[in-house]
Amino acid sequence: MRELLEKIVAEGEVVTDGVLKVDRFLNHQVDPHLMKRIGEEFAAKFHCERPTKVLTLESSGISPALMAAYELGVPLVVARKRRPLTMTREVYRAEVYSFTKKETNEIIVSRPLLDSSDRVLIIDDFLANGQAALGMVEVVHQAGADVVGIGIVIEKAFQDGGRLLRSRGFRVVSLARIGSLTDGVIRFHEGVMNG
Ligand code: G4P
Repeated sequence: MRELLEKIVAEGEVVTDGVLKVDRFLNHQVDPHLMKRIGEEFAAKFHCERPTKVLTLESSGISPALMAAYELGVPLVVARKRRPLTMTREVYRAEVYSFTKKETNEIIVSRPLLDSSDRVLIIDDFLANGQAALGMVEVVHQAGADVVGIGIVIEKAFQDGGRLLRSRGFRVVSLARIGSLTDGVIRFHEGVMNG
């Protein structure tokens, strides 16, 4: 997706060889026009799968996932990392270990929000090692529902998540694939975009 690649080149910052900062348009400040385009792109890629719900994990997945859900005309379910006061009913839960942050988070979804008739599209901002996506898959399967696809805004193709999810048979669509971040240069999977 050309607009996204251009935005990453113009406003992304390489923090380390493994981490890309995108606080100016995705993780902290959010570019609504770009999110609308991302939502359209995900909807175009996944409408044929007839999803009934979009599922994401708070917090940075919410902006692209909301726009995808809007374009697909289905509700967005936001998996929570902390149980809100109002979540009094039974929940689906999974544990997610972050290799990037070296911490384990619980992800929680209220049971009435997903059931066995659902066809769920998972959307997230980053794909690194795939643990967040696998946690969401587990929650969907606990509900007896199907995962019809996984949409990722930025895949770090030099980490294992994409391979792991694809090898398990999931259709993973990433709008930008980063090949490497070494020497402070953002290289896309297809070739060099800057530096
Ligand atoms: P994984 O789910 O693919 O295994 O990824 P990992 O555990 O390694 O990363 C977990 C968190 O770190 C996620 O945010 C993810 O978005 C973020 N992350 C991973 N790599 C990068 C990166 O290169 N740049 C940025 N900006 N973030 C990265 P989170 O803990 O869910 O936090 P939130 O921002 O969604 O609240």
